[in-house]
Amino acid sequence: MRFQGFTGGGSFQFVANINLRFGSGSAQTLPAELAALGASKPFVMIDPGVFNAGVATPIAKALEAGGIAAYVFTEVEENPSDAAIERAFGVARKSQCDSVIGIGGGSAMDSAKGVGLLMTNEGAVADYDGTNKVKRDLPPVVAIPTTAGTGSEVTANASVTRASDHYKMSLRSPRLLPKLAIVDPSLLRTLPRKAAAASGLDALAHAIEGFLSVRASPLSDFFALQAIGLLAPNVRAFVANPENLDAASSMALGSMLAGMVVSNTGTGNDHALARALGGLCELPHGVATGMLLPHVMAFNASARPERYVEIAKAMGIPAEGGQREVAARATDEVRQLLADLDLPSRLRDVGVPENRLPEVVEIAIKNVGPNPRRTSPHDLAAILSAVY
Ligand SMILES: [Fe+2]
Repeated sequence: MRFQGFTGGGSFQFVANINLRFGSGSAQTLPAELAALGASKPFVMIDPGVFNAGVATPIAKALEAGGIAAYVFTEVEENPSDAAIERAFGVARKSQCDSVIGIGGGSAMDSAKGVGLLMTNEGAVADYDGTNKVKRDLPPVVAIPTTAGTGSEVTANASVTRASDHYKMSLRSPRLLPKLAIVDPSLLRTLPRKAAAASGLDALAHAIEGFLSVRASPLSDFFALQAIGLLAPNVRAFVANPENLDAASSMALGSMLAGMVVSNTGTGNDHALARALGGLCELPHGVATGMLLPHVMAFNASARPERYVEIAKAMGIPAEGGQREVAARATDEVRQLLADLDLPSRLRDVGVPENRLPEVVEIAIKNVGPNPRRTSPHDLAAILSAVY
């Protein structure tokens, strides 16, 4: 690895809290880990689908056996709103909980961060939209992912929809880093095929957007390339059968590393557009980031073509030839992944009305941040019309 190709003259910041329990069955360590964190009454926020599928039952049993009086809350919203998090906080406060556990995908883990935030910080969730607004440390927050996607278990952010206008807020503060992540690939066993595919593509989008970001650093690059190398070759086998523990472990580790990456590099055009589509048209996040990814990769290829050679190598596809040629090959590989996983590739096929696209551009242009190629509203409109 060479120390070159970075913006900012090589200076960078990298924030992470790696307190991790990884491995099949690691969720059983939760009672002991809670004791180590000094927590005795956790507010357990479980995604309702995960709860109904019985995924969290072994965890609940372990808590019971460990004599821990948990309050189990299953009314977690998909794309959680500030109003829903504030309602959940009301329940947590009434039941005098001293810690929060999020079990599920990004929605459950971000909801847990939101409730933890309100336990020690006054006011409303919306007061903390933006960077470094969180004033006080949170009580212990433990994140237990049941999808291999968002990486929220190791990110310093929470995505929350503002109920008043459907704007997707992004709360960013090192204080939002969970105190502990328990990544147990055996919990992915019953993940439905569609969710496995969409969340896998989202994780890949994190790794690729983070690697191409103008805020990439030697540390984030290290994790991004590892993540791409774990995710791209394993996502097909994982979606075909999430009980394949090798594939599930690769996906779980890859999505976690990709989460550490984006927590530090931010994301580019793909996530800017996907967040706007999620807020306005309720398009599931992974479906949006997946279908946008090849188009955004093609758009960005001229900015950092040399990085696409590294991406291709990490993906395990041929990296010979000119940089632009390799970039096109890496982009095609992502397009092929979408097709192989039966993920939608056109906005028109997922019920997004064409007349809302200008609004999507208007919101997304404010969030293109660290995208490697400078982007105008016209560019975003062109990307959207190509995906449409
Ligand atoms: Fe994402």
